Amino acid sequence: MSKATPRVQQVTILGATGTIGQQTLDVIARHPDRFSVYALSAHARVDALFEQCVRFQPRYAVMLDADAAERLQQKLQVAGQATQVLQGMAAMEQIASDPQVDAVMAAIVGAAGLRPALAAARSGKRILLANKETLVMAGHLFMQAVEQGGATLLPIDSEHNAVFQVMPASHRGDLAAAGIRRILLTASGGPFRKLDRHALQTVTTAQALHHPNWVMGPKITIDSATLMNKGLEVIEAHWLFAATPDQIDVVVHPQSVIHSMVEYIDGSVLAQLGNPDMRTPIAYALGYPQRLESGVAALDLFKIGHFDFEAPDLQRFPCLRLAYEALRAGGSASTVLNAANEVAVAAYLAHDIGFMDIPRLIEQVLAQTALIQADTLADLEAVDAQARHDAHAWMARQNLKRCVS
Ligand SMILES: NC(=O)c1ccc[n+]([C@@H]2O[C@H](COP(=O)([O-])OP(=O)(O)OC[C@H]3O[C@@H](n4cnc5c(N)ncnc54)[C@H](OP(=O)(O)O)[C@@H]3O)[C@@H](O)[C@H]2O)c1
Repeated sequence: MSKATPRVQQVTILGATGTIGQQTLDVIARHPDRFSVYALSAHARVDALFEQCVRFQPRYAVMLDADAAERLQQKLQVAGQATQVLQGMAAMEQIASDPQVDAVMAAIVGAAGLRPALAAARSGKRILLANKETLVMAGHLFMQAVEQGGATLLPIDSEHNAVFQVMPASHRGDLAAAGIRRILLTASGGPFRKLDRHALQTVTTAQALHHPNWVMGPKITIDSATLMNKGLEVIEAHWLFAATPDQIDVVVHPQSVIHSMVEYIDGSVLAQLGNPDMRTPIAYALGYPQRLESGVAALDLFKIGHFDFEAPDLQRFPCLRLAYEALRAGGSASTVLNAANEVAVAAYLAHDIGFMDIPRLIEQVLAQTALIQADTLADLEAVDAQARHDAHAWMARQNLKRCVS
């Protein structure tokens, strides 16, 4: 009997010009018989999106920025390309929910990714979720939309993708029924794993942007240096796998080869291993439940030689503690944490604050915010806006103090 050829899947990539977006296109290009690019989006990088349009011929290209959209339209016209250019957040929601689309890669960075990810969930797409901020900011709302919309949610974060791979499919979302004791999220420890508190005060942005194992966009690279990335992932794991904070532990594993583990009540610990290359989780989610060739080199265990494990140091890396505290506090705490972190990271990248100001700022904003039960998009966006305002006000006060002293 001949095997039926799977239908070509139409894919929208949100955040196509980013590191995850580019790696998604790399995997898709290896399987032209399986995937076709329906729509691409970016914020403002016209040349990068133009080149992708020429190569992948999507039906739509969306830019958040209006001027950028106009420039892209002109370039495509001159090049004789048929791709239609749209602009703005509503257009991102449109390409995420278009009836022609089968799968949506949600790879916008930050809270800006929430609305289109929600649109994909509500319209029942296969969602490849890289944008962890969606779950941190609006976990309850998003998971509800996935369920009500009949969407299929596949985690792209390498840690959650690993957990997903080693959990029995029939019991995802019910740890007790699966006999699972806890989830062990691995963390590289980032570039400052060995620095003491004193040295951490003066690390430069260039040093923080130099991750030892992964090539990633600037925001997640700074999050990895502060360990906030792991904190956001703890919250992400809570929503994806219905795990309590006590069922999620973090293990520092500097080699970044074990991408995470699941411990069962009989003492078994199952792990997923691979080279630190995001094309593995991307290919897994694109092909699920089938496996696809991803372009990732075979793992050479003899070259790696050994694995190390350490407990995370919450004194030196308070962001991880703050994320656990926000998860335990519930209500709008994770939304506040996420917003304050985004402001802090942007300020650090702009050289406006120091590295250890990042946790300081987040802790201050969390401490001064009265938590509420924010269940609607409007409520969540209001909490997010207020936390950003409070974060900017904190920075203005610090600058004033510095000028006075
Ligand atoms: N990189 C990784 O290895 C990795 C691993 C796990 C999870 N993730 C998650 O995946 C997401 C993307 O990460 P990344 O490293 O790929 O980020 P990135 O390289 O900075 O790319 C971000 C993408 O989002 C677009 N974008 C930025 N701001 C936007 C806005 N306000 N509205 C619409 N689009 C916007 C950018 O467009 P322009 O190019 O025009 O600016 C770009 O296409 C993040 O949530 C991150 O935590 C990443």
